[in-house]
Amino acid sequence: MKKILVTGGLGFIGSHVVVELQNKGFNVVIIDNLSNSRIEVLENITSITGIKPDFYQIDLRAKVDVQNFFQDNSIDGIIHFAAFKAVGESVEKPLEYYENNIGSLVYLLQEISDRKISNFIFSSSCTVYGQAEDLPITERAQIKQPESPYGNTKKIGEEIIKDACGAYDINAIALRYFNPIGAHDSVKIGELPLGVPQNLIPYITQTAIGIREQLSVFGDDYPTADGTAIRDYIHVVDLAKAHVLALQRLLDKKNNQNFEVFNVGTGKGSSVMEVINTFERVSGKPLNYKIVERRQGDITAAYADTTSANEILGWKSEKTLEEALLSSWKWQQKQ
Ligand code: WQD
Repeated sequence: MKKILVTGGLGFIGSHVVVELQNKGFNVVIIDNLSNSRIEVLENITSITGIKPDFYQIDLRAKVDVQNFFQDNSIDGIIHFAAFKAVGESVEKPLEYYENNIGSLVYLLQEISDRKISNFIFSSSCTVYGQAEDLPITERAQIKQPESPYGNTKKIGEEIIKDACGAYDINAIALRYFNPIGAHDSVKIGELPLGVPQNLIPYITQTAIGIREQLSVFGDDYPTADGTAIRDYIHVVDLAKAHVLALQRLLDKKNNQNFEVFNVGTGKGSSVMEVINTFERVSGKPLNYKIVERRQGDITAAYADTTSANEILGWKSEKTLEEALLSSWKWQQKQ
């Protein structure tokens, strides 16, 4: 049974990937420093799969703890989520983002190269494309100077990994997520935004349940059909399955290069108003919102060309926007 380390495995996407890995028979060990996640997620994962993952509360910036972990655990592959991920916060605290997101990555890669661990999956983001010239966005699209230090840590992270793969015997895949939304069908794991949600879907569900007074729609003067910005909203369970297929590709040594990149999205763009209307329809809850100024740094439109993931990974998103929004709503009702 292959032993897979999932860093940030108690987080939103990480926890869903742990469940899918266990479903596929992998032995999963989690490292998480609980800075942006809750320990009860460990029990919730266990209650879904019946298997309790090993858990180490380690901060990946603590180099000695990372070394000790790898002395005690023989790892066959790593899926690396652990990072700070709030776009707005990264603008206020850039050095914390570079120290944490880049520092942790370098320590991890040093251990991996020292111990000849060669399978590494990196959580990247479509934010590296900025506003792409052409839509849908392919992996060959130009990488732009991201709008935020958070986005820059993903761009730099990919570059560091690529150099490490070239210099050491590491094989890696970076998955560039579009907009992850939704929650597990069991309603036992989902998104747990701490504080005021930055992202659209948790803000919508918190408004619908009465935690937030009103949703602000950031701009309706974009050059789109209804004036609101377009994104590619992908169900987190579909996204999680892409990680298992990417890991299996490396374990089976099917990768063509030592560093590969895949966009992971539905391939379909939805505007903010379309999301609001769809949410109202699936939840039966009218949403209180108002149109306000654009948010600084937002782009007009982004949605994925998923040909590479479809044809090379053998992965395709299955769940609809309706299913994803309904799962988010059920999750919110349970909080
Ligand atoms: C989606 C759309 C907003 C909130 C970011 C990161 C990306 C990933 C996902 C981490 C935009 C609009 C939002 C609100 C709104 N994060 N919106 N009112 O900005 O596309 O992507 O989060 O990995 O890397 O870049 O996601 O959910 O913040 O915004 O109108 O209260 O909803 O303007 O058009 P975004 P988002």
